[in-house]
Amino acid sequence: MTAVRDAVEPAPAGLAVPPFAVVPGAQVRQALDGREREIVDLVEATYRLHGAGQSVNPPSYFLRFPDRPTARIIALPASIGGAVRVDGLKWISSFPQNIDAGIPRASAVLILNDHDTGYPFACLEASVISATRTAASAALAADRLSRGRPRPTRIGFVGTGLIARYVHSYLARTGWSFDAVGVHDLSPDSAAGFRGYLERSGATGTVTVHDSAEELIRGSDLIVFATVASRPHVTDRSWFGHGPLVLHVSLRDLAPEILLDATNVVDDVEHCLKADTSPHLTEQLTGSRDFLAGTLDDVMAGRVTVPAGRTVVFSPFGLGVLDIAVGDFVYREVARTGQLHVVEDFFSELSRHG
Ligand SMILES: NC(=O)c1ccc[n+]([C@@H]2O[C@H](COP(=O)([O-])OP(=O)(O)OC[C@H]3O[C@@H](n4cnc5c(N)ncnc54)[C@H](O)[C@@H]3O)[C@@H](O)[C@H]2O)c1
Repeated sequence: MTAVRDAVEPAPAGLAVPPFAVVPGAQVRQALDGREREIVDLVEATYRLHGAGQSVNPPSYFLRFPDRPTARIIALPASIGGAVRVDGLKWISSFPQNIDAGIPRASAVLILNDHDTGYPFACLEASVISATRTAASAALAADRLSRGRPRPTRIGFVGTGLIARYVHSYLARTGWSFDAVGVHDLSPDSAAGFRGYLERSGATGTVTVHDSAEELIRGSDLIVFATVASRPHVTDRSWFGHGPLVLHVSLRDLAPEILLDATNVVDDVEHCLKADTSPHLTEQLTGSRDFLAGTLDDVMAGRVTVPAGRTVVFSPFGLGVLDIAVGDFVYREVARTGQLHVVEDFFSELSRHG
């Protein structure tokens, strides 16, 4: 296919309409496979840019439906400055009932926009990009937040769908190995499916499926929450008496009492204290944000120190800038290998006066 760029006369300022490409999921997966350490570094660099104010990341917009109360579609627009200079939007659906039909809960596209003209130049399948940036952020947090304590060796997953699989895979591919892997899910099918994934992946450690979250939490020093719970279902502070590191990816599992006993780290304060997340409920309960230690960027920059021996909870709201950064990586990788599917004449009304 020919590039639209070649067919269009440059505007007086030297600007031109870029070609528009569609990047299917198979290409996204190929571009990301084996690149886990680079992606964790990219996510770290993006958090640092965001922390330095070199991004625009407005609040996510939640589209909800009176006739489908469990469903939602979220728009995450974002812009990355610095040397990256790319804008875009992730548009991601969550339809939990899909699971009963045997198809994934979440589906998504990512649009990338050209920095200079504003033109959209790519539409990428983004469920993989979203899961990847979430897992890379979790792996980064696991590393950074465990530096002042013995490295965890017993991991437990509460909620074992796609995100749990990506988080485990990112940890395993960035150097983590475990003596024990705990699994707990309300759905026995999900727990069995995740166990099957662990066995096929050659993961280290004895796998135990737990009937209760309590048993799993008490027996793990690194706990990943990846459920679809809409309100807290873990309320007993004594389960966390051993001071584990908690990656609270699903954001709404823990009661405020648990957070008030912990060192709390988020990705972005304004984002995370919204939409009835556990940190949001904790702010509502206490009337203050004093329970927050800071952001992961604060920890990476040494502005916040995480005490050893106390529960640490990382609650990442999930920033659109991460999707844009990973999507831009994928786009450049597919372009570099000469495999971009450009849609010819996607923008066709290019002369103002005809
Ligand atoms: N913070 C972020 O950046 C971010 C990014 C992506 C996804 N997420 C969240 O991660 C979560 C998991 O996503 P997914 O795609 O893996 O979903 P999924 O539907 O594939 O899996 C969720 C699993 O959680 C189980 N579950 C639900 N309630 C539970 C409970 N109370 N206890 C134990 N298990 C329970 C379900 O049975 C299911 O197996 C979602 O809440 C999603 O919104 C967060």
